Amino acid sequence: MKVLIAGGSGYIGSTVASACLDAGICPVILDSLVTGRREFAAGREFYEGDIADGPLVDRIFAEHRDIDAVIHCAALKVVSDSVADPMGYYRANVTKSLDFAAHLLRNVCRRLIFSSSAAIYRASADLTVDEESPLDPQSPYARTKAACEAMFADIAAAQPIRVLSLRYFNPIGADPKMRTGLQLALPTHALGKMIQAQRQGVPFLVTGTDYPTRDGSGIRDYIHVWDLATAHVAALGRFDALPGPATAINLGTGRGTTVRELADAFNRMADRPIRVREAGRRPGDVVGAYTRIGRAERLLGWRAQYDIADGIRHSLQWAAIRDEILSDDDVARVQRTSSPER
Ligand SMILES: NC(=O)c1ccc[n+]([C@@H]2O[C@H](COP(=O)([O-])OP(=O)(O)OC[C@H]3O[C@@H](n4cnc5c(N)ncnc54)[C@H](O)[C@@H]3O)[C@@H](O)[C@H]2O)c1
Repeated sequence: MKVLIAGGSGYIGSTVASACLDAGICPVILDSLVTGRREFAAGREFYEGDIADGPLVDRIFAEHRDIDAVIHCAALKVVSDSVADPMGYYRANVTKSLDFAAHLLRNVCRRLIFSSSAAIYRASADLTVDEESPLDPQSPYARTKAACEAMFADIAAAQPIRVLSLRYFNPIGADPKMRTGLQLALPTHALGKMIQAQRQGVPFLVTGTDYPTRDGSGIRDYIHVWDLATAHVAALGRFDALPGPATAINLGTGRGTTVRELADAFNRMADRPIRVREAGRRPGDVVGAYTRIGRAERLLGWRAQYDIADGIRHSLQWAAIRDEILSDDDVARVQRTSSPER
């Protein structure tokens, strides 16, 4: 089996490519490197360019007539940037995805897996969501994801292509074999901040301590990026048995972890513990949610295998070797353009 991975030089796409390779599936990578890293495509079939570039997509399909499916991870994902530049985000994430869909249809692609996000859900009173929960995306970024899902579903209803939207919760960790990880030198999500606090010997700030959770801090469903990746492999295997022309599946662990619990878990794993200090909410912060699992198990035969401790351990291992693997001539660019979604 051969699969085209758009955005396959990014954090998640490169891990999906590794999981495909390990499963005997040949990945072909298309990436503009706007936030991705050339190093993550090393030794892999790689085309540098944009998903909206029709002649390039035609060339890829001409040179790989046996592509069975496309995984579309290519997007911008920084929530605050999307607030500052909504037109840029709609253009990058929605307009280009529409162009990409046309290129795929022209090349007789019949299977599309789309990287969506749990950020499209409305917060619920019990902090859990499933695929039937109401949508209420809270940022331009999240709205581009909801818009793409709706757009692909409309296209799948009318054209000979089927689409699976995988709604990721909060990815952490790195490839357990340390081939790839988060490319960012200074990630801004909670675990990244903990690693920074440890390195700098400063306290970690719990931003928001008055949320309606068991300890007042925000809650997330932290999913190991390798589990996310293996879900894509499972989805490729089960794709033709999916129920409709368009299906959505949540990818999370089904367990909610608060920021304070994450800090406690970090201190159990780390050689040097971090101090924790309370701080106010940051603009745009939300209480968070975790998934009710069921559909992923039923439709994909998949469930997360790694726990929070594994995710922390692999993130720490990756942070220790990241600078050797990635040359940092363009660190400033990556930091500017590639904060993790939150
Ligand atoms: N990381 C998260 O927290 C998270 C959560 C939910 C969903 N997602 C989604 O998962 C996908 C992958 O996220 P990630 O964390 O790996 O981000 P990333 O920035 O590491 O990867 C995105 C990749 O897409 C490439 N890209 C972007 N626009 C492109 C274009 N027009 N043409 C070709 N390549 C392009 C980038 O160069 C990069 O390699 C995104 O669609 C994102 O919205 C991420």
